[in-house]
Amino acid sequence: MEITENISLKALNTFGIDAKARYFANCKTVKDIEEILARKELYELPRLVLGGGSNILFTGDFGGTVLKPDLKGIEVTGEDENFVRIRAMAGENWDGFVQFAVDHGLGGVENLSGIPGNVGSCPIQNIGAYGAEARDTIERVEMLNVKDLSRSELHGHQCAFGYRDSIFKRELKSKAIILSVTFQLRKKPVFVTSYGNISEELNHYPDISLRTIREAILAIRKRKLPDPAEIGNAGSFFKNPVIGASRLSALLNDHPQIPHFLQKHGEAKIPAAWLIEQCGWKAVRRGDAGVHKNQPLVLVNYGNATGNEIIALARDIQKSVKEKFGVDIEPEVNLV
Ligand code: FAD
Ligand code: EPU
Repeated sequence: MEITENISLKALNTFGIDAKARYFANCKTVKDIEEILARKELYELPRLVLGGGSNILFTGDFGGTVLKPDLKGIEVTGEDENFVRIRAMAGENWDGFVQFAVDHGLGGVENLSGIPGNVGSCPIQNIGAYGAEARDTIERVEMLNVKDLSRSELHGHQCAFGYRDSIFKRELKSKAIILSVTFQLRKKPVFVTSYGNISEELNHYPDISLRTIREAILAIRKRKLPDPAEIGNAGSFFKNPVIGASRLSALLNDHPQIPHFLQKHGEAKIPAAWLIEQCGWKAVRRGDAGVHKNQPLVLVNYGNATGNEIIALARDIQKSVKEKFGVDIEPEVNLV
């Protein structure tokens, strides 16, 4: 198992931050991962598991081992009258997996088309978009315990999935490496087209099918979100804040025009993009760090911004949203 030393991570994170890793190991097999975890000289050093690097911000060089589980494979593991179970390995590209499902006429992940990153990361923050979340289809997650190298599985309902949240960001943080995810996909798809402008977009297509929903969502995303190949970013930098009913009515009193989306138990989700725009941050640029011109929830790197410059900008945004609206907005991106 080859380990590279002092490599630049610039091409391995979509923010395009030029941080270095002291050690880097691209693991093609589970045995490779086990070998890295067992190496004595690496044992005491910090460790980072890296997928596609599309939800990470490096704030400096990483003085430990960056381990990339580059495990590949997609296989059918079971089937009944209504569902097909498919196991995808952690290093498979997420959107490649969505394409596979759509090509096989299997429903459940088509609304998550175009999300960057790998299959192994989809349970971490329970990726979501356009009315769907990864938890809707995750049947089980297979993982390797970093301490004793034992393998175990969690069923979807044991993963404590929430909005951009799961057990892997909490109790199991840094304790488990996800090896594969098994999805339960529908043979008779149920189309979800009520979110945002999906139905409107679908008017440009001849029919409603898994394929056209995928294409419509890819088209919407292309218009709204910056492409990391052109401008560094990690998607939404912040989560949308979810507030309680009494907090919402107080906010509506002061700001009657505030957009809000009602959730369970009387809670409401407020678009952080709106809060940030109202504070005057849309399209602001400071050196090479900036706020995207179409989607203020996305912070961008115009070229040579450092992680700390992006964080300084994020802190100032959080502060002004707190001052104007009394609302805390938390980062979605993982700071390393
Ligand atoms: P990374 O950034 O490499 O890692 C993310 C976290 O997971 C890190 O903490 C890492 O240590 C951990 N991790 C990664 N792999 C493993 C593993 N095998 N085992 C244990 N821990 C692991 N997200 C959404 O939810 N919805 C969107 O619509 C969306 N749109 C986006 C659009 C753009 C343009 C971009 C750049 C990002 C977007 N994202 C979105 C965020 C991002 O794509 C997702 O969070 C994605 O799941 C991250 O995958 P990754 O492989 O790149 O993870
Ligand atoms: N808005 C503004 N100004 C803008 C843009 C948006 O005020 O310039 C407001 C509007 O009120 C709009 C609302 O924000 O209705 C929502 O905007 P959008 O539909 O673009 O969604 P979002 O809340 O900004 C969330 C996810 C995205 C996901 C989209 C689609 C979070 C943190 N972000 O964005 O996920 O793709 O919905 O479902 O939940 C990501 O997590 O990285 C990500 C990109």
